[in-house]
Amino acid sequence: MRMVDLIEKKRDGQALTDEEINFIIQGYTKDEIPDYQISALAMAIYFQDMNAKERARLTMAMVESGDQLDLSSIEGIKVDKHSTGGVGDKTTIALAPLVAALGVPVAKMSGRGLGHTGGTIDKLESVPGFSVELTTNDFIQQVNQHKLAVVGQTANLTPADKKLYGLRDVTGTVNSIPLIASSVMSKKIASGADAIVLDVKVGSGAFMKEVDQANELATAMVEIGKKLGRQTVAIISDMNQPLGRTVGNALEIREAIELLKGEGPKDLHELCLELGSQMVYLAGKAKDLADAKKQIQSVIENGKAIESLKNFLEAQGGDPSVVDDTNKLPQAKHLVEVLAEKSGYVEKITADKIGTAAMKLGAGRATKDSSIDLAVGIELHKKIGDYVEAGQALATLHSNNEQVEEVKSIVKEAYTMINDKVEQNPLIYDTIH
Ligand code: URA
Repeated sequence: MRMVDLIEKKRDGQALTDEEINFIIQGYTKDEIPDYQISALAMAIYFQDMNAKERARLTMAMVESGDQLDLSSIEGIKVDKHSTGGVGDKTTIALAPLVAALGVPVAKMSGRGLGHTGGTIDKLESVPGFSVELTTNDFIQQVNQHKLAVVGQTANLTPADKKLYGLRDVTGTVNSIPLIASSVMSKKIASGADAIVLDVKVGSGAFMKEVDQANELATAMVEIGKKLGRQTVAIISDMNQPLGRTVGNALEIREAIELLKGEGPKDLHELCLELGSQMVYLAGKAKDLADAKKQIQSVIENGKAIESLKNFLEAQGGDPSVVDDTNKLPQAKHLVEVLAEKSGYVEKITADKIGTAAMKLGAGRATKDSSIDLAVGIELHKKIGDYVEAGQALATLHSNNEQVEEVKSIVKEAYTMINDKVEQNPLIYDTIH
């Protein structure tokens, strides 16, 4: 087989066979096919798309390019959850103990990531002592004992995706439905999920700006999951403003703890109920979604969710007393309010700008080697639809640097205010089965 023939075949809109896709991914993983040919192929896929069979094979070929986590010694149906990413998205941290408290095993392999704040692992590391350095055996044992463990991405998972994603990033081919869908699903399948719940974000702070696009991506991922024998459900949720009220690592942990105590913000609570009920149902622990929601609400009310979080933190070396006293989490030295210049209703909060502001405070990494400050971030006091008087605080910056004028102006610019009352977007646009 010659790579140039396969590039031409895709360029001309024909479907690649299983053997051809295997040849490409295996050759690329072994460095036998050069980046420039894979770049050309990615561009051809960008314009010509892939059919459902090609997408599923591409996903599996990337899974087979590296290690696959074997979670078969964990009892029960392992349901993984994945978010396509948004600003202030601390859902995993709240959801995991919620569903674990209901007996759903959560064996999560998570990343640090670039972006506005750290990833789930960075956020968890704001709990003093917490570590994600577990051997695979300890990881599995902990899930059997506590129903929940989070480990860093140590194994050589989906190396083909890692290489391909890096290349797409610099060749204008990230934004392709078959390539995104196979990239996301390959990682979920390689990390051992039996069933998958996807949270596809849409809006100014998300990868997908329009609901139609998000729908297309969600449908593509659900189709791949099903073709590969994994029950998969996707929710399309709003990211036209940050989720909840905080953006920043320790601040988001605090908010997740509040949610588990029944004191969390309404949007985060609604999203956790929605995603959590899908997870509990897919794990076979509820008779329907309404029953699953009721069960989740009950573990918030009876304290079992909080207990599950404490057990999990302690099992991984973290100080569980932060749950009772969130002041033990890292705290920034300076709290600076951002005040509204005029009165009105909040019409928009550009999530991207809030993310950029958090990053400028030090909450996120610009490159994979930069360090992050776990204590800093932004607390939003006003969200879309709220009325604000001139001079009231829109947000508070948690900073370790006294010079925050630039960040203050970015946060101010993120807010758009109008005189009339504002209709809120729904939080959940659709569910794709
Ligand atoms: N996230 C991924 O993991 N892969 C993509 O291709 C895009 C976003």
